[in-house]
Amino acid sequence: MLSFNVKGQEGVIPAVGLGTATIKGDACVSAVVEALKLGYPLLDTALLYGNQEAVGQGFHDSGVARDDVWITSKIGFFPPDAEGCWMWDELNVKGEEAASIELSLKQLGLKPDLFLVHNPCAGRAEYNAAGFPHFFELFADAGSDMAVKPTTLPDGQEMRPLLLEARRNQIVNSDDPVALAAKSRAIRERTWKNMEAALKAGKCKYIGVSNYPAALLEEMVEYAEIMPCVNQLELHPRYASPDLQATAKKHGVVLTGYGTGNSLGIYTDPVIQKIADEVGKSTIQVVIKWTVQSGVAAIPRTSTPAHMAENLAALDFDLSAEDMAAIDALNEDYPYYWDPLASLLTLGGERPATSAAARAAPAPSSAPAAATVTTTQTAANRDGSIRTTTTTVATPV
Ligand SMILES: NC(=O)c1ccc[n+]([C@@H]2O[C@H](COP(=O)([O-])OP(=O)(O)OC[C@H]3O[C@@H](n4cnc5c(N)ncnc54)[C@H](OP(=O)(O)O)[C@@H]3O)[C@@H](O)[C@H]2O)c1
Repeated sequence: MLSFNVKGQEGVIPAVGLGTATIKGDACVSAVVEALKLGYPLLDTALLYGNQEAVGQGFHDSGVARDDVWITSKIGFFPPDAEGCWMWDELNVKGEEAASIELSLKQLGLKPDLFLVHNPCAGRAEYNAAGFPHFFELFADAGSDMAVKPTTLPDGQEMRPLLLEARRNQIVNSDDPVALAAKSRAIRERTWKNMEAALKAGKCKYIGVSNYPAALLEEMVEYAEIMPCVNQLELHPRYASPDLQATAKKHGVVLTGYGTGNSLGIYTDPVIQKIADEVGKSTIQVVIKWTVQSGVAAIPRTSTPAHMAENLAALDFDLSAEDMAAIDALNEDYPYYWDPLASLLTLGGERPATSAAARAAPAPSSAPAAATVTTTQTAANRDGSIRTTTTTVATPV
């Protein structure tokens, strides 16, 4: 268990849970039942995943008592002007949190422990830039036809930093910086006020955020009556965000890391492999343990029962200080999912220096089992009826 203690919220959250993105329908019901039978203490879902009914059904089928499992869900994914953008869903929009929460409660058939704001993106250009890393290694590894190709130009220049920079420029060129900063902050603040209202109305036990860089957590200190107890975001040995870890700790916020299983190539990394051999565990168990021992919750996704058991058993051993330091040293500041700089560009003031996150890195040569590419997505309309849209999303965030 990991403790949080922030303005307005105090408690503990399980250190390991089951991620459920891309797992849908009967497969999701079975995965949830299996995980709860194995003793998983936490399930992670989101309105975006189109699987909240299945998660709720799996919980009910498992017979596990409500108090024995922590359930996290997420809403408020899209900026209000993002219509037509990647994965757009008009029922999951910032400013409309109250309606999205009601829809989630209906889909889940239960009250979750924690609702998160799924990401901080306040505008279309910011959203397009922030999510852009998905279109490289992650989608390529999953065989998605949305993966950017080629990855290198004939002169050897890497496409990723070039295109990321172009996406970022669309943010700063889309508005004057002062107006952009004011507008973006107002949207983030309104979203959080809606979350605070939901908590006060008893719609969940706790509220938090997801994909918020350190500077946006600091900004919340200025406007939050209740601080978020959790910030869920990409965090694995290749992208460890030590600054954010320090900021979260300073504020008593628990980080939950995702990308544990999708941190490409990490399972064949010689450093991790050597530690795994020494402690007699698998490489993914070492990565999960490193996450939890860093004070960060882990939510690896799998629908394979043997993998579920393996991941849960990652808590049964300790890593030495030397092993922890060796894994810390693998950090490359290289996000596969979200580019935090996109949101930092909306803060106003000096443009943050482009960090190592923008640098070109060769795609790791070896990768873990790819996520299943999902080609259809279902979402519920406000009246509870289901609509299906065809997408080529590989690993929904
Ligand atoms: N807040 C956000 O924006 C956000 C973004 C991304 C993810 N998330 C959450 O975090 C969860 C995890 O992230 P993710 O879905 O991107 O996946 P992930 O956990 O990074 O990786 C999943 C991959 O790891 C493999 N895997 C898991 N355990 C394994 C094991 N023991 N041995 C071998 N392979 C293993 C899975 O394969 P098998 O299925 O074959 O086991 C799958 O291909 C999500 O499901 C979601 O709940 C949140």
